[in-house]
Amino acid sequence: MPEGGFRWLLGPSGAGKTSLLRLLHLAVRPTDGRLTILGTEVDHAARHALPALRRRIGMVFQDFRLLPHLVAYDNVALPLRLGGRPEGQIRADVTEMLRWVGLQKKANALPAELSGGEQQRVAIARAVVGRPNLLLADEPTGNLDDIQAERLMVLLHELNRVGTTVIVATHNDALVARHPGDALRLDNGRLLAGG
Ligand SMILES: Nc1ncnc2c1ncn2[C@@H]1O[C@H](COP(=O)(O)OP(=O)(O)OP(=O)(O)O)[C@@H](O)[C@H]1O
Ligand SMILES: [Mg+2]
Repeated sequence: MPEGGFRWLLGPSGAGKTSLLRLLHLAVRPTDGRLTILGTEVDHAARHALPALRRRIGMVFQDFRLLPHLVAYDNVALPLRLGGRPEGQIRADVTEMLRWVGLQKKANALPAELSGGEQQRVAIARAVVGRPNLLLADEPTGNLDDIQAERLMVLLHELNRVGTTVIVATHNDALVARHPGDALRLDNGRLLAGG
């Protein structure tokens, strides 16, 4: 798919959506075939080149993967700290993201003290805060109410508008119907359409 595009990633449970996103997030390397991400041929790239590429990719995990010993603020700050950003800028960006997802009052809560939807919003904030070139979101509205889901769509469209490539795996047919767009369709591990 072209850089700067927006795609839904659709298909029944078990179709391989999460597996495809794991490949795109460089969590696993392809055993076969060619994979080019943000202009880098991943199958040929040296292993040491991958962490820098990976820092340009944001991922909202289906199961959140928040670090349990870090409060919400520090979970969101993590990618910025790994990227060596100055602490002053980190404070401004993390505070803005937490406000956007409606969690400014929960900044000092541990994941275990948050509801499922709150944890999911922390995961979204963490994926987006570094303004990635590629954003991968795996069922990012699974724990959100309709108002929060629409707010997320505003955020995703805004990121996409300023140049981020966005791929959103979802079962949320109502959401897709409200936001029609190009789709990649998976069935039983095979890509049916989209390319
Ligand atoms: N680590 C693994 N090792 C072996 N098989 C796996 C592994 N992870 C997933 N699978 C299998 O691969 C298939 C696709 O799984 P995947 O998680 O990608 O589906 P999905 O489309 O994300 O489904 P859902 O909508 O339920 O999240 C499933 O049949 C699953 O059992
Ligand atoms: Mg999945």
